[in-house]
Amino acid sequence: KIKHVILSGGVGSRLWPLSRKSMPKQYLEIFDKKSLFEMTAERNSGFTENVIVVGNLENDNQSNVLLSKLGIQYTNIIETTPRNTAAAIAFAAFLSNPEDILVVTPSDHIIEGEKFYAKSMQKAIELAKENYIVTFGVVPTKPETGYGYIEFSGDDVVSFREKPNSVTAKEFIAKGNFLWNSGMFCFKAGVLLEELKLHSLEVYEKSKLAIENSKNGILDKQLSLEIPSISIDYAVMERSKKIKVVPATFKWSDLGSFESVYDYLKSIGHAVDNYGNMVIGTSNYTAFLGLENTIFVHTKNANLILHKDQSQDVKTLYNQLEELN
Ligand code: GDD
Ligand code: MG
Repeated sequence: KIKHVILSGGVGSRLWPLSRKSMPKQYLEIFDKKSLFEMTAERNSGFTENVIVVGNLENDNQSNVLLSKLGIQYTNIIETTPRNTAAAIAFAAFLSNPEDILVVTPSDHIIEGEKFYAKSMQKAIELAKENYIVTFGVVPTKPETGYGYIEFSGDDVVSFREKPNSVTAKEFIAKGNFLWNSGMFCFKAGVLLEELKLHSLEVYEKSKLAIENSKNGILDKQLSLEIPSISIDYAVMERSKKIKVVPATFKWSDLGSFESVYDYLKSIGHAVDNYGNMVIGTSNYTAFLGLENTIFVHTKNANLILHKDQSQDVKTLYNQLEELN
């Protein structure tokens, strides 16, 4: 069976105040009154037979409403505390048959070119059948430090490096044989679990224990807290020898930070002044004096003014702002 695993555990804290704990960015109806979550489910429904959503108690209802609207039946895995993507993916794999092919995607990316997407997926599924863990490589446009980098040779992955510092990222870009990791993966459930066991035994064992003791799809909090919080990129992708890459021929943006939102909005014609300043969330006339590359974000009860280069730091700010989350 081919299953679509939707990761919906994140808050998108780097997009605060647009994105909140109660309304993470994947559920915001930003395009044609559709949320990114809904578009993600639709995009993958043509070639997958089953859906597993790994989310949490706060957003379970939002996922349910959207999937029901699309008439998609799904299996729910509800986290009581976020344990990062290695565990989230392991839960879905443990609930599957080892031979099942899992297409794992975030719920909050923008993808254009559905035909190209489906083609890349078909390629990935073929490689997954041969027991590879498949990543999707995006041609990088700048030395972004928030992404994973895939050093490639054909469809072989020479090395995988998660979130390099900016000096290293610049070196990678200059070398030219690196792609960004899109954050989507395709593999047999059994293959992923074997690799997780080999490279991150503790995550493997504790995730197994937690999912085996879940009730009605809800994970036990105490057992979950025992699981090391590490992303699949560090836990498996950087270490495994079984990784392949399929080029992402579709247009991709993860809208992960205001810098990527800025790039995306600019690419679709959203206003930017001569100094690279942008307004998001209000049509009020806004003047920038003496400022460059500044983004003004307006919401009903909070505004954010940031320099584009500070985009990764919004997460730190978010963590200090509990009551406005
Ligand atoms: N269920 C669940 N539980 N989902 C989670 C959890 C969790 O604990 N943590 C994160 N997620 C979801 C997020 O909502 C997001 O959709 C996806 O998993 C990836 O997590 P991020 O926190 O957004 O990762 P990242 O952006 O720092 O890095 C990943 O994505 C990049 C591309 O967008 C990596 O895979 C990078 O290598 C990649 O370049
Ligand atoms: Mg992300």
